[in-house]
Amino acid sequence: MVDLRSQYLKIKPEIDKGIQDVIDSCAFINGPAVKSFQEAMEKYLGVKHVIPCANGTDSLQVSMMALGLQPGDEVITTSFTFIATAEVIALLKLTPVLVDVDPGTFNIDLKAIEKAITPKTKAIVPVHLFGQCAPMEEIMKIAKQHDLFVIEDNCQAIGSDYIFKDGTRKKGGTIGQIGCTSFFPSKNLGCYGDGGAIFTNDDELAKKLRIIVNHGMVVRYYHDIVGVNSRLDSIQAAILMVKLEHLDEYAAKRRAAADFYDKAFANNPHLTTPMRDKNSTHVFHQYTIVTHNVDRKGLIDYLASKDIPAMIYYPVPLHLQKAYVDPRYKPGDFPVTEALCQAVFSLPMHTELEEEQLDYIVNSVLEFINK
Ligand SMILES: Cc1ncc(COP(=O)(O)O)c(C=O)c1O
Repeated sequence: MVDLRSQYLKIKPEIDKGIQDVIDSCAFINGPAVKSFQEAMEKYLGVKHVIPCANGTDSLQVSMMALGLQPGDEVITTSFTFIATAEVIALLKLTPVLVDVDPGTFNIDLKAIEKAITPKTKAIVPVHLFGQCAPMEEIMKIAKQHDLFVIEDNCQAIGSDYIFKDGTRKKGGTIGQIGCTSFFPSKNLGCYGDGGAIFTNDDELAKKLRIIVNHGMVVRYYHDIVGVNSRLDSIQAAILMVKLEHLDEYAAKRRAAADFYDKAFANNPHLTTPMRDKNSTHVFHQYTIVTHNVDRKGLIDYLASKDIPAMIYYPVPLHLQKAYVDPRYKPGDFPVTEALCQAVFSLPMHTELEEEQLDYIVNSVLEFINK
């Protein structure tokens, strides 16, 4: 689905030097490379504080801890996302309240959020799925009305812009009280291991987040609050520093590949290509197609026989995952999510797709569909 090797070879000298510099310095944890990356990221995002951490899952967990969410508090999120979003809610003994998604954007359904709010609701976690922002302007309005926190799960949409109705733009992940991201290798800004970060414009919250990611410690070996060990390695920070320089160019390459797919599949009655929301740029973490009357497994197997990977993100809605079975939910509760899980598949999407490869992929898809 991604070609990290070809991407690496193009930036090899800078990456290798960055890694070697960290090794030479031996400042492996919280070294100057982490601080430099944090500052570069703050500048890129136009946000006051970036708090690097160990992975995207931790970025969500630490955010919920810093906001002081307590067992039993309800957190509204989408039924169509990667498991990590709900996992941390469950781990902290908060109550995940799932809602359906919009069938066009696959992002959280605004009307469903309003219906799900109760006196116990404390936060909303919109997920900017597949690289496009959820309707943040409206979500912030709902949150303000009901005095709720908003934590943006921006793990798939780093570099995206949210466009407000008056034309103002803000980077995805910088609109809610907190934004979270993952630097997992295949992410749009991926390191060479695990990594993550938290964004906020709130000074007090930033202080608390920094303390929590480092064992709740302000002065060494004095622990003021319960924390975790969640730090970004200096080597990963050095790699991310190089790749951040290329992030916008990488997004443009992904968009060009998406344009190619869009054109090839336009007006095909069996395939709905990804909708582009006018209130967000799309950075295409995934290129996800909805199939209609297609033998999806047959198609994926056919593509595999031609050495083309294709994946289903996600095959099972959160409320039907074994670990998350809950008497509050049953099959049929989230019809849009459930229909999407039966119908979507994603094609290779990355920065190194050549026209010849794209041609081969679309022709193979169409061969199967038109058979
Ligand atoms: C939407 C979403 N949330 C959370 C995560 C968790 O990130 P990580 O794998 O870095 O823990 C991911 C990435 O895998 C994701 O796609």
